[in-house]
Amino acid sequence: MKLMVINGPNLARLDIRDSSIYGDLNYDQLKALIQGAAKSAGFDVEVLQSNDEAEIISWLHKAADEQCPVIINPAAFTHYSYAIRDAAELVKAPLIEVHLSNPMAREEFRHTSVISGVANGTIAGFGPNSYVLAINALKAMLG
Ligand code: DQA
Repeated sequence: MKLMVINGPNLARLDIRDSSIYGDLNYDQLKALIQGAAKSAGFDVEVLQSNDEAEIISWLHKAADEQCPVIINPAAFTHYSYAIRDAAELVKAPLIEVHLSNPMAREEFRHTSVISGVANGTIAGFGPNSYVLAINALKAMLG
């Protein structure tokens, strides 16, 4: 089964972001971890990253059209992008929100997710393992 993993803004620059918050993996290493975990779980995965809200919306439309499950880390868009929320709502296959850090334990503006209400579930705070947990949760959901 196909799986789309969508990463939002600044996640391709994990190499220069605060490693005490986001962990030690750079984006290529994170991508390899996701690809390995997805393959082991039997998914044919596409791992995407964009700093552009419109591009993320187009990928969600594609997932909706193809009935493709989605794991999404919307990054800062999590906290204010109603456009990404509305696009995520169109995805009828399972959609899981993930975060490397635990936004609830950080600044107040990160305590709001406009995405959670249209996600099947949220996994946050486990570093790169958040993605692995999401892949396994998805596998269990899809049977
Ligand atoms: C993040 C948390 C967001 O608040 C932040 O803007 C990010 C990354 C995470 O994975 O922990 O860019 O989504």
